Amino acid sequence: MDKITMTPIIRGAYMEALGGPVVLLSDVEERSELPELKIDLKGADNPETYTAAVRAVEAETARIIRETFAALKADDGSLPAALRVPGIGSFFAGTDWAEADSVRQGGTRRLSPLPSAGRGDVAKGRIALVTGGAQGFGAEIARGLVGAGAFVIVADINADGARVFADMLNAGGVKRASAVAVDVSNEESVKAMADAIVAEVGGLDLLVSNAGVLRAGSVLELTAKDFELVTRINYSAFFLVVKQISPVMIRQRAAAPSWTSDIVQINSKSGLEGSNKNAAYAGGKFGGIGLVQSFAMELIEYGIKVNAICPGNFFDGPLWSDPDRGLFVQYLNTGKVPGAESVADVKRYYENKVPMGRGCEGPDVLKAILYCVDQAYETGQAVPVTGGQVMLK
Ligand SMILES: NC(=O)c1ccc[n+]([C@@H]2O[C@H](COP(=O)([O-])OP(=O)(O)OC[C@H]3O[C@@H](n4cnc5c(N)ncnc54)[C@H](O)[C@@H]3O)[C@@H](O)[C@H]2O)c1
Repeated sequence: MDKITMTPIIRGAYMEALGGPVVLLSDVEERSELPELKIDLKGADNPETYTAAVRAVEAETARIIRETFAALKADDGSLPAALRVPGIGSFFAGTDWAEADSVRQGGTRRLSPLPSAGRGDVAKGRIALVTGGAQGFGAEIARGLVGAGAFVIVADINADGARVFADMLNAGGVKRASAVAVDVSNEESVKAMADAIVAEVGGLDLLVSNAGVLRAGSVLELTAKDFELVTRINYSAFFLVVKQISPVMIRQRAAAPSWTSDIVQINSKSGLEGSNKNAAYAGGKFGGIGLVQSFAMELIEYGIKVNAICPGNFFDGPLWSDPDRGLFVQYLNTGKVPGAESVADVKRYYENKVPMGRGCEGPDVLKAILYCVDQAYETGQAVPVTGGQVMLK
């Protein structure tokens, strides 16, 4: 079993023993002064296909690691914060990145059991991945999760944008975010992202699958190429991301049977009702809910809840409000809204379709994500966040 496979298991063992999430940094150097975790390492190296046989071997190794951790516990419940695993390297755990880093800087301190978290702490200490996190809803969600105490990985095809945004989230001098470049529609790239997250922080508790594109157009006019682009990124990529990320969550769970993790797909109100001259988008979003329901049934065995959030229109985000390419400008120029003479007229027209009279905003979506994480007794749902514009039947 190699480091990428083993790291989430060790993170899980810490979480099970301490009762809460940790950041787990690692290093290939085996520091001889650290306590040794003596285990017989069975299991494939970062397996190509995650078969039941591979999972069973990993689960057995995870059980042994869990028992070894129980034996490492002192009477006060504390554990060594740093460990050495022969043949693999050294691991450094902390309740956040800064603490784990200070352990890496040379401490051989211990970690005490974590106090039980209240509802306001639902994201605290968790590691979250937000795809398409460089701008728009993704950036709002990433910022909100950092504010709620999570460590956030901002993943985007716009590598520079993701890095600049993660730097901004870290501007207070405390590292709370990092960036990774990914094309969610390319499986190799998604796998590299999953490995990079494990190498950087040890595992993952929350995947927010947010990256998406929109190419509106009539069925009579939209090119097959645009239809396929939208389907690839909004629909097929969700399969790729879940396929490559869930093994990390499954390995953690193998060592932390009382820990659950979450997958949240940012869907749309167009996943709940059709969208005129926008079929590629609505079709992919409807399909996304089919994937969410099916993954939810399958992955609950591993403590993974899978839900979708269906936001209404984010009028203040770049998709709508970009002064050159935003939908408001486009709709004004194409005369889509009868009688509209300005961007403000177009905006008002769309706001008037919402019973609550405004567009959906980042904090509205964030609350729904926190609900999904907090709610232990729900999976496979599509939660509307539309100001009443779309109501469930
Ligand atoms: N804006 C809205 O009104 C609205 C409403 C409901 C749902 N949504 C959904 O919210 C999500 C985000 O939308 P947004 O409006 O914030 O979009 P946006 O265009 O502002 O941002 C999307 C981000 O995804 C990234 N991205 C695009 N393709 C990618 C790929 N292949 N790999 C990795 N990253 C990629 C982009 O670089 C960008 O940073 C989408 O899933 C969208 O369908 C948006």
